[in-house]
Amino acid sequence: MPKPVFLSGIQPTGVPHIGNYLGAIKKWVEIQDNYETFIMVADLHAITIPREPKEFKEKTLEIVALLLACGIDPKKSTLFIQSQIPAHTELAWILNTITPLGELERMTQFKEKKDRAGALAGLLNYPVLQAADILLYKTNVVPVGEDQFQHLEFARAIAKKFNSKFGETFIIPEALSDKITSRIMGLDNPNKKMSKSAKNPNNYIALLDSPEIIRKKIKSAVTDSGKEIKYDRENKPAIANMLDIYAAFSEKTFGQLEIEFREKSYAEFKEELTELLIAKLTPIQKKYKELSKNKNLLEKILENSKTKASKIANKTLLEAKEKVGFII
Ligand code: ADP
Ligand code: TRP
Repeated sequence: MPKPVFLSGIQPTGVPHIGNYLGAIKKWVEIQDNYETFIMVADLHAITIPREPKEFKEKTLEIVALLLACGIDPKKSTLFIQSQIPAHTELAWILNTITPLGELERMTQFKEKKDRAGALAGLLNYPVLQAADILLYKTNVVPVGEDQFQHLEFARAIAKKFNSKFGETFIIPEALSDKITSRIMGLDNPNKKMSKSAKNPNNYIALLDSPEIIRKKIKSAVTDSGKEIKYDRENKPAIANMLDIYAAFSEKTFGQLEIEFREKSYAEFKEELTELLIAKLTPIQKKYKELSKNKNLLEKILENSKTKASKIANKTLLEAKEKVGFII
């Protein structure tokens, strides 16, 4: 039996943080043994908000090296750069021609982002490109946090529409819900999620933060009133968030941690969390440094995955083009 196909993507923007790691990357690393895994650096999506070209290029290479350093194994997963596979934009164009404008205008992410970035057509068509990403690889499952749920629903709807209009072509992807880890919230505000594009660096622990910075950031992280280390999302959101981080990195349960920290103060808990983060992030950072120096190896990995991804994507694209009636 062939393995089911799993695909996800991450944009090469902002500062990759422990929320991205615990909520996405770490799960991809676990999944790659059981699924035919495609991990895509979504650089075409990233330019729906204007980027500075030089920095953008560096960010793309940074995220590739970071994903590898976190344990994405090129022998198990196809880690590729979206813009290197022209089939994505080509299929997106075809899908655009069967997409009602109203559906795109109703998307929450478009409505939120257009005020910040201006209502550019690329931002509006963002979900169509994402549908193409997913459908090209005959993807069975896509992990979805709440912010991507609508986009997956759209991909499913457009795949069904294409299939019924032109004949069976695409697999209808399913959502792999990521309820296992809660959203990691900002260290400066436990009611808002930790974000790559946060203005205040104290919002996040970046995967590449040095031990000194981690120490400083955890020290200044907001806490709740009271002094008990207890998992209570409603009344103690800041401590609950730090317990979430602690539990995910240590693979301990909240119950175990509550016992472990029963006699301890917030300050002592923060100190132990700091040491845990340093212990977990240092090996990733070491690997990242080695990889960043080895440009040849990175190029080779990207070249191989480009070849593999192109082959699959082009085959699906060809099927779609034939169905539409293009001369091939
Ligand atoms: P951000 O929202 O920080 O800009 P992205 O939207 O690029 O990050 O998300 C990349 C991946 O990381 C997605 O799969 C997303 O679900 C996950 N992710 C982002 N932020 C968090 C968070 N705070 N907690 C858990 N997972 C997160
Ligand atoms: N839009 C996703 C994000 O911002 C990234 C992405 C692009 C993606 N294409 C995808 C995720 C396909 C899953 C499947 O996080």
